[in-house]
Amino acid sequence: MSLAGKLSDLRVLASLARGLPTEGSAAGQLASFYGPQAADYDRFRERLLQGRREMIAALDLQPGSRVIEFGAGTGRMLEEYRDRLDVLAKVDLVDLCDPLLAQARQRANGHPKVGVHHADACQWQPEQPADRVYFSYALSMIPHWYRAIDNAARCLAPGGRIGVVDFQVAPRAGSARGFRQGRLARHLWPWWFDHDGVRLGSDLLGYLEYRFETVEVRELRARLPYLPGLHVPYFLYIGRKAGKET
Ligand SMILES: C[S@@+](CC[C@H](N)C(=O)[O-])C[C@H]1O[C@@H](n2cnc3c(N)ncnc32)[C@H](O)[C@@H]1O
Repeated sequence: MSLAGKLSDLRVLASLARGLPTEGSAAGQLASFYGPQAADYDRFRERLLQGRREMIAALDLQPGSRVIEFGAGTGRMLEEYRDRLDVLAKVDLVDLCDPLLAQARQRANGHPKVGVHHADACQWQPEQPADRVYFSYALSMIPHWYRAIDNAARCLAPGGRIGVVDFQVAPRAGSARGFRQGRLARHLWPWWFDHDGVRLGSDLLGYLEYRFETVEVRELRARLPYLPGLHVPYFLYIGRKAGKET
C-alpha cells in the first residue's frame, strides 16, 4: 500500500477510535464522526462493506424506475449503476450527514436525474412513489431503524422492491436458513461496533421479513480490514411491497 493510502487509512482509523459522539443532535453527531474521514470514507469502506454490488444487482433496477437510497453517505452506490442513470426516471439520495452529502453532490456532479437531500430516513418522502428503495449499511446506524423501514414501505409503490445489505447477529438458535454464530462472536461484534454507533442485531432482518414479501435472503461473512482471520456476519435482503406492480 502506498504512503498516501496508509495515511488515508490512519485518518479513518483515528475517527473510528474516537467513535460516534453520544451528545448533541443526530445530524451533529454524524457530522462530527464522519467530517474528518469524509474524503477517505470510500477507500476504506470498499474493504469493509461487502455485498453492496450484489445487492444492487439483485434489486434489478429497471428502465424508468424511481429509486431512493436512504443513508446514502457519499453516494458511492451510484457507481454500481452509473451506466444506467440516464434510463432511470429519478434517483434520490437521502442522508443526515452534511460532510458525506458534500461528497455525494460532487459525485452526482449536477446529473439531472439525481437529487441529494439532507433529511432523516425516518421521515423523508418522495413526490411520487418509488419503484426501488434501498439501504446499504445504513439501518444499523439509524437508532429508530424500524421507523426508517416503515417510512421506506410508505415510499414504495405497490409491488415495489426494497433492498438491504447490512451487518447482523445470528439468532441464538440460528436463523431460519441455518445461519449460526458461536456465543462469543454473537457478543463480540455488537460490543465492537457499538463504539461507532453501529447497532448489530438479528431483529433487523426479522422485521424486514415480517414487513415485506421476501424475495431473497443471503447470509454471509465479511473479512475486516486490519483484523486478519476475523469475519463479521452480514445479510443481503430483497423484499417486495404487497400489491400489483404498475
Ligand atoms: C455506514 S454509512 C453507509 C453509507 C452508504 N450507504 C454506503 O454504503 O457507503 C451509514 C450512513 O447512514 C447515515 N445515517 C445515519 N442515521 C441516519 C438517518 N436518521 N437518516 C439518514 N441517514 C442516516 C449516515 O450519515 C451514513 O451516511
